[in-house]
Amino acid sequence: MTDIARGLEGVNVTATKLCRIDGQKGELVYAGYDIFELADHSTFEEVAFLLWNLRLPNARELAELNQFLYTERELSDLNRRMLREIVGFVRPMRALEICVEAVGALDTKSSVLTPEQLRLTAARLTARMATIVAAYHRLRHHQEPVPPRSDLGHASNFLYMLTGHEPNELEARTFDVAMILHAEHEMNASTFSAIVTASTLSDMYSAIASAIGTLKGPLHGGANEAVFKTLQEIGDESNIPAYVDAMMERGDRVMGIGHRIYKTTDPRAIILERLGHQVADQAEERKWFDMSLKLRDYLAKKLEGRPLYPNVDFFSASVYHMLGIPSDLYTPIFALARITGWTAHLLEQYGDNRLVRPNAVYEGAENREYVGINQR
Ligand SMILES: CC(C)(COP(=O)(O)OP(=O)(O)OC[C@H]1O[C@@H](n2cnc3c(N)ncnc32)[C@H](O)[C@@H]1OP(=O)(O)O)[C@@H](O)C(=O)NCCC(=O)NCCS
Repeated sequence: MTDIARGLEGVNVTATKLCRIDGQKGELVYAGYDIFELADHSTFEEVAFLLWNLRLPNARELAELNQFLYTERELSDLNRRMLREIVGFVRPMRALEICVEAVGALDTKSSVLTPEQLRLTAARLTARMATIVAAYHRLRHHQEPVPPRSDLGHASNFLYMLTGHEPNELEARTFDVAMILHAEHEMNASTFSAIVTASTLSDMYSAIASAIGTLKGPLHGGANEAVFKTLQEIGDESNIPAYVDAMMERGDRVMGIGHRIYKTTDPRAIILERLGHQVADQAEERKWFDMSLKLRDYLAKKLEGRPLYPNVDFFSASVYHMLGIPSDLYTPIFALARITGWTAHLLEQYGDNRLVRPNAVYEGAENREYVGINQR
């Protein structure tokens, strides 16, 4: 029988200079920089520049990028009107997907695929998507969108536009690091779908809309929201054993656990757990974070000997909750960070394009005779 690489597991589809993951050791490296280093010292904007240019910016370059991001934060009239139209009946990921296409619709240079233009598009989408998600959230609660501020960094400004309050230093730093952790992750499903779209020489906006649609699924970006649902269903720490045991018996998957690549704890989960402890010390409600710690310990015992460990979504759920972010925005927030990695991969793809067109092994019927509709 012909081999089929189901799920493309173990298949290298391209080469990249952006990201290296060692799933056995639990290493994640962006363009040569270990994720722990970046989480300790860098900012989301710096990481965005790193991914788009394969080097860290100097002070002038970072200031220029910040300036461009500020000027691109405002929504177009089209996006504002669309959001008001769709907000009542569209979930946030679909709203984001639709609005990203509208950003592209107004860009007269959307089909210019030079590296310079693509970097501008990447930065524009990074700035604009944050405002789209925050405005969507305000509008669905019958509140006016909070206009972006030009004196706040990307992460702080997003939290400010979402809640109407400027975050304190720890909240702003925690969210900034969460954005760094989600910025890039090699050839995951959404990045691959962006690449497939771009490989036809369709534009960056359509490629990103494809990626957003792919990230939406619960086996990918949707897992962080599902983790929070699980925590709420458990309700109280004392229910963890009964809940988990019943889940395992049914053969259900525990969200936030397991990874196609990591066969040890995801390094991003380690960093988020560390930050979570700090945020919990000052949070009004730390219940879900504490429950996550207990759930992690119980699962470690239950899954002992199996390569199933917490992934990035496991702690992001309760950390985001402590930052005042509603759970159905966890996946859009993932997209707000991953836009940098997606677009960086697209820069690589457009720079050395090859149409993605694999094969399928036919195993259907043969030699059938066509029968007219009245004879069927
Ligand atoms: C991420 C994920 C899709 C990767 O899965 P994968 O590489 O396709 O792994 P498989 O589906 O082949 O699973 C291998 C085994 O582990 C089990 N497994 C995988 N994830 C599991 C989970 N979260 N809970 C319980 N068991 C799990 C599978 O049932 C399978 O068991 P089996 O060999 O007895 O049949 C999977 O771990 C998952 O569904 N996790 C939950 C969703 C999630 O958190 N996604 C976010 C990823 S960042």
